[in-house]
Amino acid sequence: MSAVEYNKINDITVENQPVQEPERQYYYMDKCREIISERTKEKGRRLTFYVETFGCQMNARDSEKLRGILENIGFVRNDYEESDVVIYNTCTVRENANIRVYGRLGHLKTLKKKNPDMIIGLCGCMMQEKHVVEKISKSYRHVNLIFGTFNIYKLSELLYRVLTEDKMIVDIMDKTEEIVEELPVDREYKFKSGVNIMYGCNNFCTYCIVPYVRGREKSREPEDIISEIKRLADDGVREVMLLGQNVNSYGKGLEPYVDFASLLHRVCKIDGIERVRFMTSHPKDLSDDLIDAMATEPKVCPHMHLPLQSGSSRLLKIMNRHYDKERYLELVEKIRNRIPDISLTTDIIVGFPGETEEDFKETLDVVDKVGYDSAFTFIYSKRTGTPAADMPDQVPEDVTKERFDRLLALVQKRAKERCARFEGKTMPVLVEQVNVQDDRLVTGRLANNLTVHFEGSSDLIGQIVDVKLKECKGFYYIAEQA
Ligand code: SAH
Ligand code: SF4
Ligand code: F3S
Repeated sequence: MSAVEYNKINDITVENQPVQEPERQYYYMDKCREIISERTKEKGRRLTFYVETFGCQMNARDSEKLRGILENIGFVRNDYEESDVVIYNTCTVRENANIRVYGRLGHLKTLKKKNPDMIIGLCGCMMQEKHVVEKISKSYRHVNLIFGTFNIYKLSELLYRVLTEDKMIVDIMDKTEEIVEELPVDREYKFKSGVNIMYGCNNFCTYCIVPYVRGREKSREPEDIISEIKRLADDGVREVMLLGQNVNSYGKGLEPYVDFASLLHRVCKIDGIERVRFMTSHPKDLSDDLIDAMATEPKVCPHMHLPLQSGSSRLLKIMNRHYDKERYLELVEKIRNRIPDISLTTDIIVGFPGETEEDFKETLDVVDKVGYDSAFTFIYSKRTGTPAADMPDQVPEDVTKERFDRLLALVQKRAKERCARFEGKTMPVLVEQVNVQDDRLVTGRLANNLTVHFEGSSDLIGQIVDVKLKECKGFYYIAEQA
């Protein structure tokens, strides 16, 4: 059902609802809260929810918004097996993310037999694909609610419909011009937060589904971003990560135009914010001004995620990446000249259609030359609707797998060598949590994003403390408080 039809229905069934956002959503939070409070009395216990996130930082941030709304309505957080509302915020960048969601839905069917009141919701990138929604509406009838990436903010309105109408609610928008702000958010960490600076993607890399499920690129107004970060700082946030599929093209379409480097400078002026990170940088748009901002602003963390995808200039062209091997390597050199200690990380795809052994060797060559601090390596996954899905010469699975193993071995060897370069130094760590394996230790991150474990108590969580990096264990450090 389209968003327009759906609004008409609401005009008939609900009186006095505001048409403006976010007021309309607050109105529905109130309506849901009334129902939930009734049900709480009936059941004699608090009603609970579970939100699981698949995919990238954007989805993680969206899930914080979903949790914020659910808590505002009166639900409390719980494990999924026992929850009254279970929401999966899905990803579809690779097939395996899809498969996992179907697996979860299968299991929930059994749970719902025991607890028929359980509300199951699905949202996020996978739901923006027509064939997925068709399959779920047909074969997974125990799902109550399906929504997409453009209407995360409408959760309370949609939940109200689930609570008052006896049918599966599907609300998918194809796009949106509207960015709805100022809704409740439940942050995963008190001391750090993601901040969306832009939505969508215009790059259409030929293997990638993201532009189809996240829509056209749209930058948020700098004033809105700055005031959000100021509020976060007042609320105890020390570290922000500015989020976009391609932060380097931030500002296009804004009046007056603001580029990413100047946004970074403005963010760094905010009191209370001590670390600023960003994700992701597309090599094609990386400006000298950005390198300059990173080199001169002490708050900007010396870490850049700079996806390579492939080292073969021939494949990069077919992938529509707008840079070649030489340009990428020059860029890396330029960055390292200005910021010698910077940590560089990347994404690499193995087995893109038509990838030859020669192409693959070019990838290995770049990995060897750059020496990444870490790299996410992915086996190419065919995504319906993308140009690469119809390209000839899809690489056989055994060939891809063999290349993948060789790539991983090289990535790990180089990363180990790189990681060790800080041994013996004293550096500040933002403490994130008590160590999961050993509760005498806490775990945190260096500004360059490396993980560090050291002896300490939970009072240190959220603080930035100096530690001496005693021993590099491959991809993390064992340290002691300095
Ligand atoms: N906007 C980011 C990437 C977002 S998707 C960027 O351009 O850098 C995260 C990563 O998933 C990509 O960098 C790519 O390496 C990988 N990826 C995307 N589509 C894929 C596909 N069809 N198969 C395998 N990996 C893919
Ligand atoms: Fe996908 Fe390319 Fe956009 Fe990244 S830049 S999200 S890889 S299309
Ligand atoms: Fe996945 Fe959507 Fe992010 S497809 S990687 S969750 S933008």
